[in-house]
Amino acid sequence: MRFGGKNVLVTGGASGIGRAAAIKMAQEGARVLVCDRDQEKGQATVQTIEQNGGLASFQEVDVAIEKSFKEAFQYAKGTFGSLDVLFNNAGVGGNEKKLHEIEESEWDQIVDINLKGIFFGLKHAAQVMIEQEKGAIVNTSSLLGFKGKKRTGPYNASKGGVITLTKNAALEYGRYGIRVNAVAPGVIDTPIVDNWREDERKWKLIASANALGRLGKPEEVAEAVLFLASDQASYITGETLLVDGGGLTF
Ligand SMILES: NC(=O)c1ccc[n+]([C@@H]2O[C@H](COP(=O)([O-])OP(=O)(O)OC[C@H]3O[C@@H](n4cnc5c(N)ncnc54)[C@H](O)[C@@H]3O)[C@@H](O)[C@H]2O)c1
Repeated sequence: MRFGGKNVLVTGGASGIGRAAAIKMAQEGARVLVCDRDQEKGQATVQTIEQNGGLASFQEVDVAIEKSFKEAFQYAKGTFGSLDVLFNNAGVGGNEKKLHEIEESEWDQIVDINLKGIFFGLKHAAQVMIEQEKGAIVNTSSLLGFKGKKRTGPYNASKGGVITLTKNAALEYGRYGIRVNAVAPGVIDTPIVDNWREDERKWKLIASANALGRLGKPEEVAEAVLFLASDQASYITGETLLVDGGGLTF
């Protein structure tokens, strides 16, 4: 039970990778605060955890709004008494457009959630974890944080930013016993890639553009998240772990 007695906050816990990680952490003994802007699906994650005999609760959060995200940390601290792990994971894709076609509001919508939201998570988790002098944070970046791709500029920029911010935070908080890492998933079978599925021919190419020649499962990313968040990774910080089936190698 790697997470026995540990308190964990997961953003984007209503779906996909966040849901898979929340369920796995609870199975390994964690008490999980599932945070998401989707209340119905977030509650469904809590229900699944409880049906499996685990402990979880839900908090409605928009990670792009500091007040909303901060309240989740206040709830975690007030109810749990401590916060051992933050999985800073909520994110959105975006419309496929070239840079010159993107409106400022579209840029802001993606970057505010995918990068500013990560900053808010780091900021408020650090405030709790510095006092405790321990903690582990895992941010979600992307394979697209490492490479260019046509028509996904704001997404790539936000995910590249997450990789660098992970290093900043690791440096700033390492001396307080806080580790900060990231996962960079390749193409994973979750609703975020639904718009790519519409063109069947293109989707087959996208889903197999990696060394393993297949789509990843959210549970496969969750395994990497659990490792980085656990004491097994006690000397790993500032790292971004690709979980991409060899997508960057391809
Ligand atoms: N699936 C992939 O292929 C893939 C690849 C690389 C990176 N990622 C990243 O993984 C993370 C999880 O995505 P996923 O694949 O599980 O997708 P998903 O759509 O299944 O889950 C994303 C979750 O984030 C929540 N969310 C979105 N905006 C939010 C906000 N402002 N506040 C709170 N919650 C919000 C959604 O409601 C949803 O529950 C994202 O950061 C995504 O960019 C996914």
